[in-house]
Amino acid sequence: MRLNRGVLCLLWATVALASPVSRQKQKQKLLLISFDGFRWDYDRDVDTPNLDQMAKDGVKAQFVTPPYLTITSPSHFTLLTGLYVENHGVIHNMWFNTSTSQTLPYYQTQFKNEWWDNGSLPIWITAQRQGLKTGSLHFPGTASTYDGETAQVKEVEPMLYNYKNETLWRQNTEKVMSWFRDKDLDFISMYFGEPDGTGHRYGPESPQVREMVKQVDRAVGYLRQTARSYGLEDRLNMIMTADHGMATVYRNGLVEEITLYKIPGFAFKDLDFHILDYGPSGMLLPKPGMLDKVYAALKGAHPHLHVYKKEELPERLHFSKNERILPIILWADPGYVINGYFPVQFNKGEHGFDNEAMDMKAFFRAVGPAFAQGLEVGPFESVNIYPLMCHILGIQPEKNDGNLELTKHMLRDEGGTGNSTGLNILPNVFTGLAAMAGFMVVVFIVFTTSSILKRRRNRSPSVRDDKKKEDNPQTSF
Ligand SMILES: *[C@@H]1O[C@H](CO)[C@@H](O)[C@H](O)[C@H]1NC(C)=O
Ligand SMILES: *[C@@H]1O[C@H](CO)[C@@H](O)[C@H](O)[C@H]1NC(C)=O
Ligand SMILES: *[C@@H]1O[C@H](CO)[C@@H](O)[C@H](O)[C@H]1NC(C)=O
Ligand SMILES: *[C@@H]1O[C@H](CO)[C@@H](O)[C@H](O)[C@H]1NC(C)=O
Ligand SMILES: [Zn+2]
Repeated sequence: MRLNRGVLCLLWATVALASPVSRQKQKQKLLLISFDGFRWDYDRDVDTPNLDQMAKDGVKAQFVTPPYLTITSPSHFTLLTGLYVENHGVIHNMWFNTSTSQTLPYYQTQFKNEWWDNGSLPIWITAQRQGLKTGSLHFPGTASTYDGETAQVKEVEPMLYNYKNETLWRQNTEKVMSWFRDKDLDFISMYFGEPDGTGHRYGPESPQVREMVKQVDRAVGYLRQTARSYGLEDRLNMIMTADHGMATVYRNGLVEEITLYKIPGFAFKDLDFHILDYGPSGMLLPKPGMLDKVYAALKGAHPHLHVYKKEELPERLHFSKNERILPIILWADPGYVINGYFPVQFNKGEHGFDNEAMDMKAFFRAVGPAFAQGLEVGPFESVNIYPLMCHILGIQPEKNDGNLELTKHMLRDEGGTGNSTGLNILPNVFTGLAAMAGFMVVVFIVFTTSSILKRRRNRSPSVRDDKKKEDNPQTSF
């Protein structure tokens, strides 16, 4: 007994000595930036000196695979939680109530707490509960509270925000950098609404998109330049990615459109509720007893329309095990959209397709003290960004669907592919001590509070809700 106490005292002394050091090593900052709808290959035929420089100084992935449904709010919430859409519950850009047939567009859904706060904690809350300070600017999910909390510093854009205004982009960049410097935040998520809007309106192969990609490139240059001038470069890591890509929509009689109203045997009166005219995806709630009739009428009705009962949806899409997902799921092949009564949307570009389609893949770049330099890596799923972010911030992640093993080879100290700088030598000396102390603490905790741990482990991830996009094509996401 006495010996045990002695060992414990020694343990605590070691921890007390080592923890300031390990905290110092972990005191790196992280900025997660999303450029909405930046397809993985958008820099291919555009001059992008700043993105190229970022790849030289950091890491470039060939592409990342977003979760299904490949639309804005579900995919952004996956970045923030590391969970597939069926597990975090933000299943659509649009909040809806099937009993009242009420729906809310993208922007208004941002303020529907019960839509977002459905049992999963975004990284802001987790980081804050572990002593870090976080912020968010315009990132989808920022407006809602989670278990009563939000990011400590946050800004939600006004309703009629001009997502393309480059002056505002610069002001936002300065704001975010000042949050890091003056408020000493550790993690910030930042959102740019382009090139998504331009991609919808003009199509992904348009000169307008190429111009917008140049604007994104200038923004990347400005972000890095501002980080330098604010004295943050040595401590700040930046991850840049997107929620989905963009595909050209075939129109003008080029193809036979998918219009459900025209399909023989299908009738809207057999439905209680539907979400249609939302690009290439749709969900239907048939009236009691009508499920098989609706399903039989639609299945095989158009060569580019995929029709599934919720529980039959391919498991790889991770879009069925959630009570918010409606019993029939529809999706169209790239190039096609699903219309209800008649076409009401005339976007030249769309997303929301199968996440296996190359046009849905998103770009990924990262730079900063944690990342290897001049490293190009293969593709990975975007659920794996969350554990990487938690690792960089030195926090314990929530239960998630990602795997750090699939992204940590991008880090300087992990994969060995990167180049170590002199700055890292001192912390490295203490890594062994800190790791040992950490191990001993874990042993201690396991022996004394195994029941608590067991209870936590048994907690399964809770299921959440979903959201839809606005009807106005100019502000679609
Ligand atoms: C939908 O509306 C009905 C009727 O107002 C209400 O009872 C129900 O709780 C609502 N469901 C959701 C999920 O908001
Ligand atoms: C998630 O939302 C559904 C309704 O959409 C609700 O029934 C469920 O209780 C919610 N779960 C949590 C943990 O908030
Ligand atoms: C962009 O934003 C700035 C700053 O608010 C404003 O002065 C300018 O008029 C805006 N430009 C456009 C084209 O909306
Ligand atoms: C690593 O950095 C050193 C010194 O800065 C440099 O000489 C060396 O070429 C670098 N190695 C790689 C693989 O980049
Ligand atoms: Zn988007």
